[in-house]
Amino acid sequence: MGTMIADGLVRSGWSRDSLVMCARRPARIEELIALGYVATTDPVAAIADADIVILSTKPKDVGAVLVAIRDHIAKGQVVLSVAAGIEIATLDAALPDNPLFRAMPNTPAGLGRGATGFAVGPRATGSDIETVRRVLESVGLAVQVSEDQLNAVTALSGSGPAYVFLLAEALQSAGQALGLAHDVATDLSAHTIAGAGAMLVAGMADAPTLRHQVTSPGGTTAAAVDVMLDSGFLDIIERALTAARDRAVELGQAR
Ligand SMILES: NC(=O)c1ccc[n+]([C@@H]2O[C@H](COP(=O)([O-])OP(=O)(O)OC[C@H]3O[C@@H](n4cnc5c(N)ncnc54)[C@H](OP(=O)(O)O)[C@@H]3O)[C@@H](O)[C@H]2O)c1
Repeated sequence: MGTMIADGLVRSGWSRDSLVMCARRPARIEELIALGYVATTDPVAAIADADIVILSTKPKDVGAVLVAIRDHIAKGQVVLSVAAGIEIATLDAALPDNPLFRAMPNTPAGLGRGATGFAVGPRATGSDIETVRRVLESVGLAVQVSEDQLNAVTALSGSGPAYVFLLAEALQSAGQALGLAHDVATDLSAHTIAGAGAMLVAGMADAPTLRHQVTSPGGTTAAAVDVMLDSGFLDIIERALTAARDRAVELGQAR
């Protein structure tokens, strides 16, 4: 995720050599340098003079990084964590003089098409919020939420790409069951999802309106949508997101 954000920043005009990447393994450092980044295994060197420090290790490794940087980070350096389940209070305990942010991006960020919810922590000024928003917008949509809503963001957009991939699988296999070739069903399902998503993102209308526009009474779409709604489609999605939200709460408490 750290590399996805860095790539987004480069696409948005930041120069690659203005970003300092940090990793542990020498092989990873070599990969990052080959990509044109400045890279170091030393977190203290990585944060020196940084306007914004992005914590993007696995959640289990955040503690080690906080220990490494806590006595070296300058007062006022902005810290943005994307580590799932790591609360702002945990960051605050280690970094009591820094403006703090916590975000939940998703994997389409790698194509600059991500959807991120972010929460603002202590000491953040209006200008810090704008800086963090610009960083996150370099990989897609960025929406400010309260920290207690981040588990819901995780359930909706953080895990959301997997739900869409599941829908693609279902469309593909149902298309094949109706006699379409595998490749044809695969391409039609992917492009249908991408096209419908593009209509939503373009703001052509809201989802219910767009659905009604393509659903003639008594027509083919209505026949399919009726089966979905009668089978509890909306309830399934709500129960799925609730399960994801509850799991995010459990994992957060376990950390
Ligand atoms: N992937 C997603 O869809 C997604 C979405 C939202 C949030 N996130 C969050 O993003 C974070 C990163 O996930 P990821 O999948 O990108 O993980 P990742 O590929 O494992 O990347 C983590 C990086 O952190 C480095 N690192 C770990 N401990 C370090 C230390 N002590 N000092 C310096 N570098 C250290 C690792 O270096 P080495 O490679 O050398 O070990 C690695 O390059 C996670 O907390 C996850 O919750 C991910």
